[in-house]
Amino acid sequence: MRRLLIAGNWKMNCGPYDAAELLEGLKARKAEVDEQVDVLVCPPFVSIGMAVKYLYDTDIQVGAQNLHFEENGAYTGEISGSMLAESGCNYVIIGHSERRQYFGETDDSVNKRTQKALEHKLAPIICVGESLKQRKAGDHYDLVKDQVSAALEGISEEQVLDVVIAYEPIWAIGTGETASPEQAQEMHEHIRKILADLYNQEAADSINILYGGSMKPANAQELLSQPDVDGGLIGGASLDADSFSEIITIAE
Ligand code: G3H
Repeated sequence: MRRLLIAGNWKMNCGPYDAAELLEGLKARKAEVDEQVDVLVCPPFVSIGMAVKYLYDTDIQVGAQNLHFEENGAYTGEISGSMLAESGCNYVIIGHSERRQYFGETDDSVNKRTQKALEHKLAPIICVGESLKQRKAGDHYDLVKDQVSAALEGISEEQVLDVVIAYEPIWAIGTGETASPEQAQEMHEHIRKILADLYNQEAADSINILYGGSMKPANAQELLSQPDVDGGLIGGASLDADSFSEIITIAE
């Protein structure tokens, strides 16, 4: 059976000092709950070291928000997969809609980053999801199918078992507007079917599909209780130790 994964994407928030404060709060709250779910925080690059240091005696894992697809070299401002692995990361978010929208990420670059992440034993959290315009036009299922298929091009049956997919409808990110549990379930079921078609049912059944988009304590229960929703990729609510811990508790 799939274990739920509750992942915090801090986005461009929390330098090392703020990270330490947030992690202190999280550690204090996390000690109060059982260990039924996997928990992950994805701070900005500069705070990864602080997070790894603070969390070394916990089972909370640390991931990054992006990686470059080249191994090393003259790519000013970029971070490689080997650097992330060496820094203590186990996961990396790839192709978040903010990366696609503001930094020119394409399905092709998402695929290259996915390959590089897997090469370095970093579990890629591949983000997919439609805009409101695409949903209103009825294009959302095809779009997500194209995004998932392109991201996994060349990824083997064995490798795909380490992949996590995050369905994040763009219209629900940071807006306070959440997909309804039914909308989330429909798309997650669709994604699992895509995975079964691309690989096999066994792989599809073992891959975690997270929901992201204004998940918070007030709506986590109904979203996480959907059969194909295997956790959350949480932005705003992961910046508050109480809210994030509450979602973890709900997941348990
Ligand atoms: O990666 C996280 C998602 O973009 C969701 O962000 O919870 O602030 O809506 P949000």
